[in-house]
Amino acid sequence: MPPLKIGIVGAGSVSQRGILPHLSLPDVSDKVVIHAVCDPAPGRAEAAAAKYNVPTFYTDYATFLAESDVDMITLATPIGMHYQQGKAAILAGKHVHFNKSMTTTAAEASELIDLAAARGLKLVASPGEMNRPHNQAIKQMLADGVIGDLCWAVCGASFGRYHENEIYRTGNDPLTNVDPSWYYRKPGGGPLYDMTVYALHGLTGILGPAKRVTAMSGVRLPFREFKGEMVPCDADDNTLILIDFGNNVFAMAYGTPAGSVSEGFSGSYFGTKGQIVGLKLNGQPFDYPRSDEADRHPHGRWAGNQWILPHVSEHHREIDEHHVFADIMQLVDWVRDGTPAVGTAEHARHVIEIIEAGLRAAESGQTQHLHTSF
Ligand SMILES: NC(=O)c1ccc[n+]([C@@H]2O[C@H](COP(=O)([O-])OP(=O)(O)OC[C@H]3O[C@@H](n4cnc5c(N)ncnc54)[C@H](O)[C@@H]3O)[C@@H](O)[C@H]2O)c1
Repeated sequence: MPPLKIGIVGAGSVSQRGILPHLSLPDVSDKVVIHAVCDPAPGRAEAAAAKYNVPTFYTDYATFLAESDVDMITLATPIGMHYQQGKAAILAGKHVHFNKSMTTTAAEASELIDLAAARGLKLVASPGEMNRPHNQAIKQMLADGVIGDLCWAVCGASFGRYHENEIYRTGNDPLTNVDPSWYYRKPGGGPLYDMTVYALHGLTGILGPAKRVTAMSGVRLPFREFKGEMVPCDADDNTLILIDFGNNVFAMAYGTPAGSVSEGFSGSYFGTKGQIVGLKLNGQPFDYPRSDEADRHPHGRWAGNQWILPHVSEHHREIDEHHVFADIMQLVDWVRDGTPAVGTAEHARHVIEIIEAGLRAAESGQTQHLHTSF
């Protein structure tokens, strides 16, 4: 089977830091090759294509879909565009990898899942957090009763500066003047769809689908500074969501501008006989497959966890955004040899429903029942 042709839609920060360099390495070229880059920002697609030897580039998405002859795409555009762009790609017969979050509503995700299924197309939605061996180990420990009866969990993400300082945003040429301000605006802006989404994929991957949510949420910082300008922000940046998993097991997920009570994007789990906090069981690091390899990373085990994701061979270690690469390769494998992906669109839809319902609960003051599963 010849390599799949992938089109990269959006040549901004994640594409330049991760997707283009990973997929340009020769060790994947028997499976997938970058055939096209599409980005409407003046000069960006052309410059990215030249830098990474990509044969074609486009500045218009509809033209790209009609003319580029790619088998699959990765959507690396602002989150609020994913639904429309994903739909157009599916209608054009392409398999789609969605960078997180897949969509901003569960209804949009359902529509895309149904459309793809009807056409025999495959969707993978980042973040594939259950590809991480430590998350699988935590799931197993909870099932084995290692910390007794689980009572509650907490997970989330907080940020001070928010994407403003990434190196592809601070320059003046087409590749380095990428504007981050969509991250502060609706639809799709704010930390929930961008960062808490990792924590929620881990939490629900470990505990299973949730039943209902309630929340408090708002905009704590109405302006953010980028290149000396004050950018207005209307996407909620300060949110606490309470989640009911049934059987009186509860969790809290947060997306805030400051303060973190969990490690990385990982959760803390509290049971009647002990606790799992980050990568420690009752205060001691626990083992999981290849944790010894992760320990060899010069910055420690959390950083080393990027090295032990599927497909991250030695050549890929020094390139950023390992998990995005691993998720794209899940789609490649699924299309090529039928290996099902861990990062399913159904899981992503459930996480999106938690976020969407949390925002609705905060606005209405009403607890929201969840309807999706995975
Ligand atoms: N930046 C990160 O650290 C990071 C990491 C992992 C995943 N992601 C995800 O990747 C996606 C992109 O994030 P980013 O930080 O790279 O954003 P970005 O703003 O840096 O880049 C987005 C790019 O999309 C382009 N674009 C806008 N409209 C377009 C259109 N109609 N067709 C094609 N391209 C279009 C923009 O010109 C820009 O170059 C998001 O889903 C984000 O959550 C980002």
